[in-house]
Amino acid sequence: MSNIQTETQSVTYRCPSNIALVKYWGKKEGGVQLPANPSISWTLNDLFAETTVFASPKMEENQKVEFFLDGKPKPSFEPKIHTFLQRISSIVPVVSQWDLRIESKNTFPHGAGIASSAAGFGALALCMVDLEGDLQPGSTEFYQKVSICARLGSGSACRSMFEGAGIWGELDSIPGSSDEYAISFPFEIHSRLKNWKDAVLIVDDGEKKVSSTQGHDLLKSHAYAHARFEQASKNLTELSEVLQNGNVERFVELVESEALQLHAMMMSSIPYYLLIRPNTLAIIELIWAKRGATNWEMAFTLDAGANVHLLYNSEQEDDVMNFIDAELLPYCKNQLYLCSAIGGGPLKLN
Ligand code: DP6
Repeated sequence: MSNIQTETQSVTYRCPSNIALVKYWGKKEGGVQLPANPSISWTLNDLFAETTVFASPKMEENQKVEFFLDGKPKPSFEPKIHTFLQRISSIVPVVSQWDLRIESKNTFPHGAGIASSAAGFGALALCMVDLEGDLQPGSTEFYQKVSICARLGSGSACRSMFEGAGIWGELDSIPGSSDEYAISFPFEIHSRLKNWKDAVLIVDDGEKKVSSTQGHDLLKSHAYAHARFEQASKNLTELSEVLQNGNVERFVELVESEALQLHAMMMSSIPYYLLIRPNTLAIIELIWAKRGATNWEMAFTLDAGANVHLLYNSEQEDDVMNFIDAELLPYCKNQLYLCSAIGGGPLKLN
C-alpha cells in the first residue's frame, strides 16, 4: 500500500552517471524507451546528481511541478519532467496526486557531454519510488522498479543503479537481462579489469547540436541499423566473457570499436551529422601513440558528444595523469578534465 500522505514529505538521493562500453543506440519500435540492442556500462561514482524531491498533496486539479538546478529555477526542464511523470504514472500511480518541488545539482557541468540525464533521471526515479513507500529502499525489487522508471526518463539512466557495471537489454548470454530494466553485471569481473578509472577530457562543453533522443530516432530509417544491432549483441556477449577472463587487449579493441561505431552511425544517418571535433581525433591519436609506445592498459570511449573518456587501469594512474597533463590538456576546452573511478551505485542521503 502506498503512503496516504497529508503533508509534505521529502527525500534526497545521489545517483551516479555511467559510461557505456557497448552502446545503446536505437530504440525498439512499438514500446516506450525499449532498446534496439543490449548495452553495458560502468558506473562512474564521482560524477553524480544529487536530487531532493518535496512531495505534497496536490492543491489544484493540475499538478504543480517546479524544477531547480543548482538552486536556480529551470522551467526549460519541466516539459521533460512532465513526460517522465506521465510515463511512470501507471507504475507509481501516487505521483499524479502530488505537487512536486525538485531540487537537483550535478558534480559536473550540464551539457558537458557527460550523461547528465542518466544521473538526473536516475536520482529522480530513486526519489519517486522511495516516496511511494511500497518497497524497501535498497532491495532488489526496489532497484528493479527504479530502473524501469529511470529508463522511462532516459534510457541510459536505468543502468546507473548498480555498483560496478549495469546491463540493459535482453540477451541470451546474460541471465536475467531485460529490455524493461537494467541488472547488475551477473558475473565476477576479473582483477585486471576491476579497478579502472575514467578521465573525461572535455573537448566541448556546449549543448549538442543533435540530442541523443533525436539520434536514436534516426536509426528507424538507417541503412545499417540492423547490422549495428546485431553487432552490439555480439560485442556484449564477448565483452561479458572478456570482463570475466581479463583479456585487456580484447577489452580495449571492443570498447574502442563500439565508440567508433556509435559515431559512424551518426555520420551515416540521414540527415548525417558529426559530434566529434578535431580535438577529439587529436586526443584519440595521442592515446593510440602512447599505448603503442608503453603498453599501458588504457582505452578511449565516446558518448554522444565530442568529449573523450580515457579509461585506464588505476595501477597506471600516475603515468596516465602525467600523460594527460603533459600531452592531452592542450586539446581540452579550458584545460578541463573530470576524474572518476568505476564504483558504487546510488546513495540515499536522508
Ligand atoms: C550514446 O539515454 O541519453 O550515451 O533514452 O533518448 O534519453 P534517451 O537517450 P540516452 O542515450 C544515450 C546514448 C549513449 C550510449 C549509452 O549510454 O549507451
